[in-house]
Amino acid sequence: MSLWGGVFLEPTDDDLRRLNDSLPFDRRLAHEDVMASIAYARAIGMAGVLSEEETALIVDGLQTIQNELTDGAFSFQAGDEDIHSAVERRLIELVGDVGGKLHTGRSRNDQVATDFRLWGMQAIDTLTAQVKDVQRALVQRASTLIYALMPGYTHLQPAQPISAAHWLMSYFWMLARDVERLQQARNRTAVCPLGAGALAGTPLSIDREDLAWSLGFRSITENSLDAVSDRDFVLEALFIMATIGLHLSRLAEDIILFSNPTFGYVRLHDRYSTGSSLMPQKRNADPMELTRGKAGRLIGNLTGLMTVLKGLPTGYNKDMQEDKEALFDSYDTLSLLLPVVSGVLLTLTFDEEAMRRGLSEEMLATEMADYLVAKGLPFRQAHHIVGRIVRVALDEGVSLSKLPLDLLQSHSELFEEDVAQVFDFERSVARRRARGGTAPDAIMEQITLARTMLGM
Ligand code: ARG
Repeated sequence: MSLWGGVFLEPTDDDLRRLNDSLPFDRRLAHEDVMASIAYARAIGMAGVLSEEETALIVDGLQTIQNELTDGAFSFQAGDEDIHSAVERRLIELVGDVGGKLHTGRSRNDQVATDFRLWGMQAIDTLTAQVKDVQRALVQRASTLIYALMPGYTHLQPAQPISAAHWLMSYFWMLARDVERLQQARNRTAVCPLGAGALAGTPLSIDREDLAWSLGFRSITENSLDAVSDRDFVLEALFIMATIGLHLSRLAEDIILFSNPTFGYVRLHDRYSTGSSLMPQKRNADPMELTRGKAGRLIGNLTGLMTVLKGLPTGYNKDMQEDKEALFDSYDTLSLLLPVVSGVLLTLTFDEEAMRRGLSEEMLATEMADYLVAKGLPFRQAHHIVGRIVRVALDEGVSLSKLPLDLLQSHSELFEEDVAQVFDFERSVARRRARGGTAPDAIMEQITLARTMLGM
């Protein structure tokens, strides 16, 4: 029997039921549904809607259901429309008609928003821990690569030498913002809608705050109409997960590129690479390609739900039921991915010689310009002169340091013997020691800060 059959003379069409029923996916909210119902039963008991005896019976029944769910003994039935009807149906089976009093003053509209927020809070906690594991892996690997130099790129063209630790740590900070976003989103998720009823609020004198706190919420919703129709917390979670996915996709792309033999900077561990069914020599970075690919799916879930919610009229609408699969899918996707990313990072081999080979003297052209600047030339002119010199080196097919001094002097008489010191990758890196730069001292500073943030 459905929760709402009274007014209808005919049963629901079977095809519609298949479309309408959300049990196949919202059964994942079972634990939260029972938890919230236990708290609600106590709240309406305190408000005098249930006698002490009735409250005890209902709470007892719900606890039995919780145990059945944990043991896998709970049996869903063909008529169960969603998790809320399934739990109520079972409660009445267990405790009799008194179970039907539980829903007094409550609607599935405030109920589902409550359950889903509770689930979301848990999900955020799990994801936060997993993202921090990736951050830990980054810090761990970066700590050993402070003095390993590699080309830094802009436009994917060799730009300036940097430390490999600096490259890895750049991803730490992206994820640090994601962790911060997750914490902020958790606070906005931990707002309890229970007591909003279907849309207009509850006539029962329940203590909403007490009810909220007993469930681990931080506060309560202030407008019942908003409470039942607000899915911002889902959108925010989807956005953050999409952003995490996007960050990981960029890391993945770097690793795919750098593990290509043309670069050869890194090598994926055997446990984290896959081969080709045809070409015996292949080592493919499948985990990283999947990381890159899954970002598309995470972004899809966000845009999908935003599109569903756009233009919905005031109050709850059944369209909102579409929120669940999106959030479940993004969560499942990301929590599958994050441990693999940690594993890839922890087992990655860095070929410091290959990274070194990637450095070329043109990447020191900025140093050459800085040299002229130190001798008093305005940077813009220095830039132009060095550009000319780079062009000559290119045309002659020699590296910058091999150009004779008199040739340099024909471009600017500020060049002297000591220009030779400029052609030193270590020096270039070490000079960038202001906070946030790639010099060893500056990197140690960021790693120390990162370790504090992670409690490492
Ligand atoms: N399964 C529904 C959902 O997920 C629960 C709320 C149903 N409310 C309603 N008025 N039909 O949105």
